[in-house]
Amino acid sequence: MSDHKPAGSATKPAGRPVILSGMRPTGRLHWGNYTGALENWVRLQDEYDCRFMVADWHVLTTALDKAGEIKANSREMFLDWLGAGLDPERSVLFLQSTIKEHAELFLVMSMMISMGRLQRNPTFKEQVRDLNLGGEISFGHLGYPVLQAADILAYRAHAVPVGEDQLPHLELTREMARRFNFLFGDVFPEPEALVTKFARFPGTDGGRMSKSMGNTIEISASPEEIRERIKPAFTDPARLRRSDPGHPEVCGIYTWYQKFLPEALPQVAEECRTAARGCVDCKKQLAEGAIAHFAPLRERRAEFEANPARLDEIIASGCDRARALAQDTMMRVHDAMGIG
Ligand code: TRP
Ligand code: SF4
Repeated sequence: MSDHKPAGSATKPAGRPVILSGMRPTGRLHWGNYTGALENWVRLQDEYDCRFMVADWHVLTTALDKAGEIKANSREMFLDWLGAGLDPERSVLFLQSTIKEHAELFLVMSMMISMGRLQRNPTFKEQVRDLNLGGEISFGHLGYPVLQAADILAYRAHAVPVGEDQLPHLELTREMARRFNFLFGDVFPEPEALVTKFARFPGTDGGRMSKSMGNTIEISASPEEIRERIKPAFTDPARLRRSDPGHPEVCGIYTWYQKFLPEALPQVAEECRTAARGCVDCKKQLAEGAIAHFAPLRERRAEFEANPARLDEIIASGCDRARALAQDTMMRVHDAMGIG
């Protein structure tokens, strides 16, 4: 408390800026998660000090009945991450529930925000509506953004890569950080959202790829699974016969080409529009492109999967690094508040 630092000194990045992001472990990651987040995270490692968290506590807020699956799903998530190229040397990969400091900071941050503000959170209102929760909303569920704020602030992160759907949570985090800093002095940077821009990635039915829609293809899918999932996938509904000209811009397969076989795009578009190519062959070519795209990820994933002791070690050492960082933040919090 005594050695007061000039305003801002605690919150400006000294070295590389810090990033924190997380995902809830609800099952194997799919192509939509990959293009929408994971692929971007892999790139961010070159420029930022990254902390990536498996948000297992957050699963409890909306799927308490599936608590028994969280542990296995968390392991799957680490495997997907490592396979995709998150680097446990450069980045801190950790499991939220092993860092008890998040729970303490959650408690502190819960004092920095009003009930009304949390109740007005659009994500919360949507979930209450969509999950048919009626009166059965837990205190923890209402506090979802407070726990998320604790996740971010525990590492005094400068930036948080998230999808657009998470922007309300980021705004709430910034408000809590501001409130704390105003009351107790500059401890937390106000984290910026790094919005992952991705055109909505189509699933096998042409709608947005999402686990709840059953239209996903997993990034760990085998070549055989990929071919099988693509075969019946949605194309241009106007192409009833092989001889009907197609409209690649409305076709989900064409969007997948943009991601996995961009070099083939001009030819695909031309041949689709003139009905020179049929959807069956078009899908076959795309399937092989996607298989090749994910082959290195699958191989790397399999290596980690074949060595559970090594995976345990990677997770444990990531958690140890995260804990040390979060403990440092909590010392600053205790110091600033004069309590704890
Ligand atoms: N709420 C995020 C999601 O559903 C997951 C998450 C938990 C998170 N804690 C976080 C994301 C901290 C960014 C930062 O996708
Ligand atoms: Fe889609 Fe290819 Fe069929 Fe055209 S030919 S509608 S791009 S699958």
